[in-house]
Amino acid sequence: MVFDLPSQSCRIGSLQVTGSASSTIRNPATGEILACVPHLGAKEAALAVDAASSAFRSWSRGTAYDRAALLTRWADLIEDRYASLAELLTAEQGKPLKEAQRELRYGNSFVRWYAEEAKRVYGETIPSERADQRILILKQPLGVVAAITPWNFPVAMVLRKVAPALAAGCTVVLKPAPETPLSALQLVELAAQAGIPEGVLNIVTGPAEDIGAVWMADPRVRKVTFTGSTEVGRLLMSQSARTLKKLTLELGGNAAMIVCADADLARALSGSMFGKFRNAGQTCISVNRFLLHDHIAQSFTERFVEQVRSLRVGNGSDPSSDIGPLINEDGCNKVEDLVNDALRSGATLLLGGKRIKGTFFAPTVLADVTPSMRIAQEEIFGPVACLSTFNDDDTAIRTANDISHGLVHYVYTEQLSRAFRYSEELEAGMVGINGTAISCAHAPFGGIKQSGYGREGGHHGIDEFLQVKYVSIGIAS
Ligand code: SIN
Repeated sequence: MVFDLPSQSCRIGSLQVTGSASSTIRNPATGEILACVPHLGAKEAALAVDAASSAFRSWSRGTAYDRAALLTRWADLIEDRYASLAELLTAEQGKPLKEAQRELRYGNSFVRWYAEEAKRVYGETIPSERADQRILILKQPLGVVAAITPWNFPVAMVLRKVAPALAAGCTVVLKPAPETPLSALQLVELAAQAGIPEGVLNIVTGPAEDIGAVWMADPRVRKVTFTGSTEVGRLLMSQSARTLKKLTLELGGNAAMIVCADADLARALSGSMFGKFRNAGQTCISVNRFLLHDHIAQSFTERFVEQVRSLRVGNGSDPSSDIGPLINEDGCNKVEDLVNDALRSGATLLLGGKRIKGTFFAPTVLADVTPSMRIAQEEIFGPVACLSTFNDDDTAIRTANDISHGLVHYVYTEQLSRAFRYSEELEAGMVGINGTAISCAHAPFGGIKQSGYGREGGHHGIDEFLQVKYVSIGIAS
């Protein structure tokens, strides 16, 4: 498919920057070249901070109602282009078209929600113990925000970060993933068309090391919001320590889905298919480990394998595809390596287990996976389901928690007290009871442990871009 992309350049302040070199973006399903984008570096990264810093004063001083109106116009323009943006998203990332359409709606819901939330950044007054003092708490935008986004949700992760930042009154320098910059470039153009002023949202495409290093060192960047690997999150944290930036780090997960003996199996099966195979398993909240109670393990496994067998693997642009390619060769090699390691360590192959062609990996089901296997400890990021069994809640909770990550776990049970026990004892920033489709604009998404910190979504999400100022006012008593 050929896209009618405007000449690819990066909007930085009033400039459209092309740079002297470019990077080729290919469709992971076909290898076809989609576009070339600027390969920018330290100079343009600094230019973007200059632009965002100059724009901050007037953007933050405008009213929340002004910002809300512009964000709403942006959301309208995005919505008008859902069809073409979904095709572009599928072409650059590989996910099936129906998932790309869903991602567009999901991502844009953050723009609409934060347009409204901008109007609800309330401060406080606190009673003083002194008659001659009044205490006010102001909530003010932090300043320039660096947003660094991943390739697995090229639209939603941009909008989930940029919308609350702009709503709060911050300005943004954005670096999309090198694999999937095309949707992000389009979103930034639409923001400009919506009337969001020059310098408020700037985009820089190019190598993460060069751009990130400039942003982390620049004291004008007051906040970094990043989704990606724990390793890079740690690096950003150490690089930003000298300038003491506020950070939101969404660093991946290793979710367990615990299916209890009293679970509604039909519901658990449908949650499993979405929770495991959305985006070919390349989702931070994908189920990595299925923990099945002994009493239901056989019946769940038989039905699950049948449903997985019916998934159609193919180019995401084909409407009948359920699973597209993995993002690249490295991603595919990693999945292959984890599966082979599990099989050598005693796991049983029930379905799939290998690459089909290119970076298309067969939907795979492994049984007898044990907690010590690498595949149970590492984030798989591929369409591989790992099954094991348990016979009491203590063991399930211990096994689920016995990992370094803590983003999300899921539990299927029809018993209220059991649901509460799991919700309280699972070590994760999020718990899904009887459902895996938990992400939404109005609830706080985020992790604990090596999954990072900070929240995206809901009123917690806008607080990440605000600072609290205490004002003490002396008056005549
Ligand atoms: C992610 O994989 O980080 C995002 C998934 C989601 O928002 O549901």
